[in-house]
Amino acid sequence: MTVKPEVSLALRKIIHGVYVISTRHEGKVNAMTAAWVARASFDPELVTVAIGNTRHSHGMIKESGVFAVNILSVDDILIGKHFGTKTGKKTDKFADISFDTKATGSPILKEAVAWLDCKVVSSVEAGDHTLFIGEVLDGGVLSGKPTLVYDKDTFYK
Ligand SMILES: Cc1cc2nc3c(=O)[nH]c(=O)nc-3n(C[C@H](O)[C@H](O)[C@H](O)COP(=O)(O)O)c2cc1C
Repeated sequence: MTVKPEVSLALRKIIHGVYVISTRHEGKVNAMTAAWVARASFDPELVTVAIGNTRHSHGMIKESGVFAVNILSVDDILIGKHFGTKTGKKTDKFADISFDTKATGSPILKEAVAWLDCKVVSSVEAGDHTLFIGEVLDGGVLSGKPTLVYDKDTFYK
């Protein structure tokens, strides 16, 4: 499908943060960078993450039913690139990165501003992505740094 350039530009005006969505399945961990993350409900506390159907993380989250949202700070662009430019199908992205775990076992990055540990309660197929809706089981704030707002030009500078 061809998207009008003006429509693409308009879509880029939507503000996103930068997040690392981690998961654990059958003893293996993986994570990927995602910008398409949003709150969805107060009671219970729900968040949605839009995960491309071809991502390695997609199968792992679908099978395990768990993920964590690691909210990155303005100093974490390299972390966003690390988890967002290679696939866990071929690389162990956690080979040199230490992490904590909470209830679901999904990796919690020590550098994150804050984290949310989630279990999948529902999923919706949305074109070439799947919206996983996660109930927030636990969460915490790790630093007072400002959250990273995604800007393509700054991110890839
Ligand atoms: C800034 C940034 C934002 C991204 N946002 C998303 C997103 O919201 N959803 C998605 O499916 N992929 C997104 N990606 C792409 C994935 O992070 C990338 O394809 C990753 O290599 C997938 O890893 P995996 O195959 O190990 O799951 C983003 C990448 C970057 C750098």
